[in-house]
Amino acid sequence: MTLNEIERALRDLRLSGIAATLNTRVMQAQSSQQPFLETFATMLQDELDRRHSRLTERRFKHSKLEERLTLGDFDWRFNPKLPRQACFELHTLKFIGEGANALIIGKPGTGKSHVAKAVAYQATLQGHEVRYVEADTEFARFALSTPAEQAAMLNAYVEPDLLVLDDLFLARRISDTGAEVLQSVVHQRYKRRSSIIVTSNRVVQDWGKYLGDATMGTTILDRLMHRAVMLEFEGKSYRLKEAAARLALNADHD
Ligand SMILES: Nc1ncnc2c1ncn2[C@@H]1O[C@H](COP(=O)(O)OP(=O)(O)OP(=O)(O)O)[C@@H](O)[C@H]1O
Ligand SMILES: [Mg+2]
Repeated sequence: MTLNEIERALRDLRLSGIAATLNTRVMQAQSSQQPFLETFATMLQDELDRRHSRLTERRFKHSKLEERLTLGDFDWRFNPKLPRQACFELHTLKFIGEGANALIIGKPGTGKSHVAKAVAYQATLQGHEVRYVEADTEFARFALSTPAEQAAMLNAYVEPDLLVLDDLFLARRISDTGAEVLQSVVHQRYKRRSSIIVTSNRVVQDWGKYLGDATMGTTILDRLMHRAVMLEFEGKSYRLKEAAARLALNADHD
């Protein structure tokens, strides 16, 4: 076989990781008279590396996270009262193994969504299936979908190892359909012992009010809180800091 034919055979065999670096590895082996087994091992590693990165990429896509946020980008000095240790504890992902939930509640702009997204991204890197949902937008979309689409959406909220419900009750009241979805998802995930992270800038005492049904609020909260950590985010808005910085910059340019 020629090099070209070998490459084609590798692609037919779906060994595109080896195919992609074959040229390099051949030259490398010739240049150093590497033992065959060493070259072979390097080529297998190339294939493993490519499969791993493709899987990770696919998991990230499935998660619907749009950014790869990390806790490394987070400025802990800005709001010194944030529960830093609890955030890092969450980031270890032990809670997923334990089927525990996390409720991140507190003031706007303090980094609740940032922390939730960073933990969710870490989970995709560690091989967990994740689904990130902007709660209000998603519930509105759900209400407009056909029954078949709704069934698929529900599945997608229930199946993954970790569900993130971001900015729950941002618009205070959610529709009756939204409330029912929330109830169904929380109940089903509770039965499966699979984790949810909720972020909200509404105190939990008011949730019943936003659901329009106090009993529903209680049954949802009951299940969410049964195995849960509660993180309170007190402090000032980072968005305002960023806006102030932009204004100052503009003023300098004037
Ligand atoms: N301490 C911080 N260091 C760096 N960036 C931060 C910090 N806090 C917030 N941010 C950034 O500020 C923006 C707003 O934060 P985020 O969306 O996480 O706030 P939130 O608590 O979810 O607010 P809301 O209750 O309005 O949803 C984001 O771009 C986030 O990355
Ligand atoms: Mg948020």
